[in-house]
Amino acid sequence: MAAEYSGHRCRHFLLFLALATILPASRAQLSPTFYGSSCPAALLTIRTAVRAAVALDARTGGSLLRLHFHDCFVQGCDASVLLDDTGNFTGEKGAGPNAGSLRGFGVIDTIKALLEVLCPRTVSCADILAVAARDSVVALGGPSWTVQLGRRDSTTASLSTANTDLPSPASSLSTLLAAFARKGLSSTDMVALSGAHTVGQAQCQNFRARIYNETNIDPSFAASRRAGCPATGGGGALAPLDASTPNAFDNAYYGGLVAQRGLMHSDQQLFSGGSTDGQVRSYAASPAQFRSDFAAAMVRMGGIGVLTGSSGQVRRNCRRMN
Ligand code: HEM
Repeated sequence: MAAEYSGHRCRHFLLFLALATILPASRAQLSPTFYGSSCPAALLTIRTAVRAAVALDARTGGSLLRLHFHDCFVQGCDASVLLDDTGNFTGEKGAGPNAGSLRGFGVIDTIKALLEVLCPRTVSCADILAVAARDSVVALGGPSWTVQLGRRDSTTASLSTANTDLPSPASSLSTLLAAFARKGLSSTDMVALSGAHTVGQAQCQNFRARIYNETNIDPSFAASRRAGCPATGGGGALAPLDASTPNAFDNAYYGGLVAQRGLMHSDQQLFSGGSTDGQVRSYAASPAQFRSDFAAAMVRMGGIGVLTGSSGQVRRNCRRMN
């Protein structure tokens, strides 16, 4: 009886050993060749659609890059940002940082529709966002990087996390650093990723307090921005985040910060006598260093909280779960 019992235990132990060897392999990781055989046309399809959209409207490149950021900072890069509200589901689109501000959803819909024809139920919306962000940066003249693939899509979203975890333009440097640290990103990553503000636009309500009240701002820059952004009322008027080369993915954003021409309070916080001043000066002086740090930081951001293996799903329509 005792021998039989210990034989039983031995079999359990062998089963445990077998599982222990298999499990790490099945805890899937991202890979650049994830769609190599399941959807060989995926990357070219996304690139072609992004290029066309950016050629039509350069701002869309920035909008697609920002979508990936707002996805990754809320529940990880799981396309939760793309889910529409319904009668019994609340998504993230109504969150303060997203409402009336996020753009580019139609481009993602177009890409998803194409991919559902080419390789149904194969390419996740979260991966489309990651590749579209890279292709947008490239289309605007920025650096390229290899996108890790194999993310899966969430069946949930979090309005409350979108409201708490996405940084506000009123943030101090320490608040910005803490928001990125919460996602596992370093101070260096925070400063490099903020270089995304070398493209795209912001609404008056997001920079009004700075151009009317702050003193660490170039006076002629403040005056010119005030002309397009009344002190009260209509807050939707747009201004480029990088005044000197608004549609080029270059390092001019950092030169602007050194010249006290950061548009939003949060932008100028990166160069206002604190711990990140040196890095801002380096990027202002070296486009190559900015390009390589930005690319590396994008890969890290794209790895935040991803769903892999059999977690989540591959949505057929990015706006709703299957
Ligand atoms: C560091 C903290 C950040 C803050 C506080 C912040 C805040 C903002 C705000 C308030 C806007 C303007 C939205 C509007 O007026 O409608 C904006 C635009 C933008 N942000 Fe950020 N952002 C940050 C980091 C990032 C990162 C990490 C990325 C991407 C890697 C990014 C990409 C963009 C882009 C491209 C735009 C322009 C979008 C467009 O024109 O449609 N931002 N950001």
